[in-house]
Amino acid sequence: MITTNIDKARDVLNQGKLVAIPTETVYGLAGNAFNETAINAIFSLKNRPKNNPLIVHIKSLEYLEMVASHIPEKAKLLAEKFWPGPLTMVLPKKPEISDLITAGKDTVAVRMPNHDLTLALLNQLDFPLVAPSANPFGSISPTSADHVMHYFEKELDVILEGGECKIGIESTIIGFEEDEVVVYRLGTLPLDEIEALVGPVKLKNVNNINPQAPGMQERHYAPNKQSYLTDKVDHFLTINSLNNVGVIAFQSEILSPRISQQIVLSPNGELKEASRNLYKAMHELDLSSVDCIVFETFPLVGLGLTINDKLKRATTQKQ
Ligand code: TXA
Ligand code: MG
Repeated sequence: MITTNIDKARDVLNQGKLVAIPTETVYGLAGNAFNETAINAIFSLKNRPKNNPLIVHIKSLEYLEMVASHIPEKAKLLAEKFWPGPLTMVLPKKPEISDLITAGKDTVAVRMPNHDLTLALLNQLDFPLVAPSANPFGSISPTSADHVMHYFEKELDVILEGGECKIGIESTIIGFEEDEVVVYRLGTLPLDEIEALVGPVKLKNVNNINPQAPGMQERHYAPNKQSYLTDKVDHFLTINSLNNVGVIAFQSEILSPRISQQIVLSPNGELKEASRNLYKAMHELDLSSVDCIVFETFPLVGLGLTINDKLKRATTQKQ
């Protein structure tokens, strides 16, 4: 059920069961990070391959020391500046962190989410929460409690209602390799803000098909409907003779009789607003009666690059 009652969520988590939690990025499917039954339940509910490690969500910097065996100076600076917030850091793990969480790696991904309700819940627990996005593996991430309910209504006793996610795109993931800051997944946190604090960062595997992080997987964030990405929607519809099309446009409405439904993500052309609205628009058109979804390419700058990368994965054809 959908509720704002964190006592209920706490009780369910204390029993080793799962709860959906709101964060500023996307909703997470959360369980006790120190309970292997809960961790296994996350993988099986999501149908997620066991070689895809999970993110540990903490409430305070003291918890970071319980999770990570070494915290580089640069990581401390970044934590102080950006936490709570949409930054995940990959650090050497403490032995207490299960290999199930890290997929056998000796590193663990950690972040402090920026959502009052979830921070209040974490404050009532004496363990951190592991939480991947609360969607079946490969499908569109949830940015509202309703999206989670649509996926897991039967399986979850508690979906915490925290409103629509303020950022709406997954966190930026970075790691430290020989004191170099390495970016594994692009998010909404601008890389120049990270660089201003810790110097140049290196992108690694960010566009790789054989990824270190599964958010990097070829087909991901994907609607069930056939989906396409193009920078010239009208022309694309004509040359491909597509009809009854759902369009997700960036700034301006596209006029074409072939379009039956259209969502304009940001009439003012703001990348942040468009990103926040993206997954919601994808859910909406995927559940509508259109035959296919056509995405307009985002502008090729800043956050637009992150989003285009996700749109490429979302529109990769099924194998
Ligand atoms: O914004 C977010 O990060 C959301 C919310 C719920 O916090 N969570 C999220 O989790 O996106 P998930 O499981 O969908 O993606 C976690 C990513 C995966 O791509 C995984 O490979 C990467 O984190 N990851 C986890 N542990 C890692 C590690 N030790 N090394 C490298 N990547 C890691
Ligand atoms: Mg995910």
